[in-house]
Amino acid sequence: MEPVIEFKYFSFKYRAQTQPTLRDINLSIMPGEKVLIVGPSGSGKSTLAHCINGLVPFSYPGDITGTLRVGGKNPADLGLFGISQIVGTVLQDTDGQFIGLTVAEDLAFSLENNLVPQEEMFVKVDEVAELVDVKKLLDNAPRELSGGQKQRVSMGGVMVDDVEILLFDEPLANLDPATGKRAIALIDQIQKNRKSTIVIIEHRLEDALYRDVDRIIVVGEGRIVADTVPDELLITDILENRGSGNLFT
Ligand SMILES: Nc1ncnc2c1ncn2[C@@H]1O[C@H](COP(=O)(O)OP(=O)(O)OP(=O)(O)O)[C@@H](O)[C@H]1O
Ligand SMILES: [Mg+2]
Repeated sequence: MEPVIEFKYFSFKYRAQTQPTLRDINLSIMPGEKVLIVGPSGSGKSTLAHCINGLVPFSYPGDITGTLRVGGKNPADLGLFGISQIVGTVLQDTDGQFIGLTVAEDLAFSLENNLVPQEEMFVKVDEVAELVDVKKLLDNAPRELSGGQKQRVSMGGVMVDDVEILLFDEPLANLDPATGKRAIALIDQIQKNRKSTIVIIEHRLEDALYRDVDRIIVVGEGRIVADTVPDELLITDILENRGSGNLFT
């Protein structure tokens, strides 16, 4: 089986920076894997996500060395639309990722794009709205929603897309603990139904350790410092060996 995401000796420097933000990344993620990326603030997690979903290089230009394949192709060759057919993202900052004038339009957007017949579209939007609990909000404008509601709409958006890779950048950031739990359950459910590859980015280690994931990638200062199975002892060890036991607090 071929990796669905493959970084090889990959480095990236934002145009506005003097030093690379990502350095010598080697990372292969297989289809259907559920991977958690953790690391301190500023370590490059979101940048890594931006490379996977094409914001690098299309929205954030810079210098790339090494190679990246997403779904077997170079994101730079695919174009943003091409990548959006492979990768669905729930960004850390959910503003600006809504396209529709209403929640319903937003959820329907990718279906329209993929020429799904109207009848089927209504059914699907309704199903997803139910699932992420935004049915009462369908006629609202995205900007009228709370942070947590936006995040749920955004999750709904990636659920209607039939994409191979789902990327969540700090999906719990705007949620209270109870809603956060539901978001986690939702992600698990998406994976179960779809067998998609799931990449979740988390900032706090304690949020990360109790997740049901296949692998944990630890990022530090733009490098991968560990690529391991979820095991509290192992991770603690990694952090202590780096002399940064309080890295995530
Ligand atoms: N658009 C940009 N242009 C220039 N530099 C950027 C840009 N976005 C991020 N950076 C820089 O890249 C570094 C890593 O940022 P990134 O957002 O990837 O970190 P992160 O690990 O996601 O942090 P957090 O946990 O706070 O979200 C930071 O030093 C930041 O200043
Ligand atoms: Mg980030």
